[in-house]
Amino acid sequence: MSKIFVDACLGKETPYTPVWMMRQAGRYLPEYMAVRAEAGNFLNLCHDPAKAAEVTIQPLDIVGVDAAILFSDILVIPDEMGMDLEFIKGFGPKFNDPLTSQEDLDRLIGGEEAANKLTYVYDTIKLLRKQLDERGDEIALIGFCGAPWTLATYMIEGQGTKTYNICKKMMYSNPELLHNILREVTEVVKYYMEKQIESGIDVVQIFDSWAAAIEPDRYDEFSWKYMVEIADYLKSKYPDTPIIMFPKGVPAFLDKVYGNFDVYGVDWGTPMELAKEKLGDKYVLQGNMEPCRLYSKEATTESVAILAETMRDGRHIFNLGHGILPDVPVENAKHFVSECQRLSKR
Ligand code: CP3
Repeated sequence: MSKIFVDACLGKETPYTPVWMMRQAGRYLPEYMAVRAEAGNFLNLCHDPAKAAEVTIQPLDIVGVDAAILFSDILVIPDEMGMDLEFIKGFGPKFNDPLTSQEDLDRLIGGEEAANKLTYVYDTIKLLRKQLDERGDEIALIGFCGAPWTLATYMIEGQGTKTYNICKKMMYSNPELLHNILREVTEVVKYYMEKQIESGIDVVQIFDSWAAAIEPDRYDEFSWKYMVEIADYLKSKYPDTPIIMFPKGVPAFLDKVYGNFDVYGVDWGTPMELAKEKLGDKYVLQGNMEPCRLYSKEATTESVAILAETMRDGRHIFNLGHGILPDVPVENAKHFVSECQRLSKR
């Protein structure tokens, strides 16, 4: 039997449009908070395959989504390249020695050597593969990585940022160094995703969460082309594994999208109608309910109905237009999922 989510990614007809949510395994679930407390902290949870697999599966049983996404974080890559990641409570991710020079970059571990250190991720995937196969419900497993640009913003700024001024100063005053960083990260990510596929994921998603920080005319040069390079590499080896690209907040780039991948993730600031007009023939579209609609069941149903109507011809995967927020009632998340499944029935 084929998996409904994989079929939908490949543009095949499915009995209804499958649904999942970015950040579906997380703090809005009391069951997640309990396992995280047992693990001690978020990074310990990422490093513990049994617990990471447990929280990956939770949203399948609790909210009824059609795909599982590996529980991990995009920042495990720079961590294993030697940057020493910390998650500070109430603040977020932090690297104490951000990259400022070619010498800083040269000190990092690169390529396959860095990718080989992420054994806990591959072990989590192997365990999940076994557990999902035993369930027999044909649920797909999504593996993921950050886009080189999004990863580089943390590696250069040392933490999350509102202005991106440190990495943009590098973009305009020392673009060669920025490209060297992006190239190095791209190499590690290629090996990393290849090993995720070998370990048993069904679908790849590349998150470019901070795409909007780049001016539209430079987006290809500093981000998209590196994402396409990763997709090309994976497609040359695993042509049947679907790839989802999610560049958040770059509607001006819709006319310039190119590359060998399957699904384009539409963020909530881009009208689905517009994405369909520009890209619908070439790529399956994923998204894009405004995540804050989840605070109201009525607002959720309204959006799902409009999306189902816009995408009535198929070639669609339901999702939020970015991650679910920690204070969303679980009942409302369940409502979103069941409304997607109900209103798209064929
Ligand atoms: O359910 C899933 O989607 C799978 C797991 C997942 C996490 N992070 C778990 C997580 C995924 C796919 C990510 C990706 C990720 N991580 C992104 C790209 C996706 C996006 O939202 O745009 C980014 C930018 C990060 C970096 C990151 N990780 C930040 C900025 C933070 C702190 C902010 C926050 O929400 O706390 C994290 C921590 C993080 N990653 C948590 C989870 C569940 C919260 C940790 C906790 O307190 O338990």
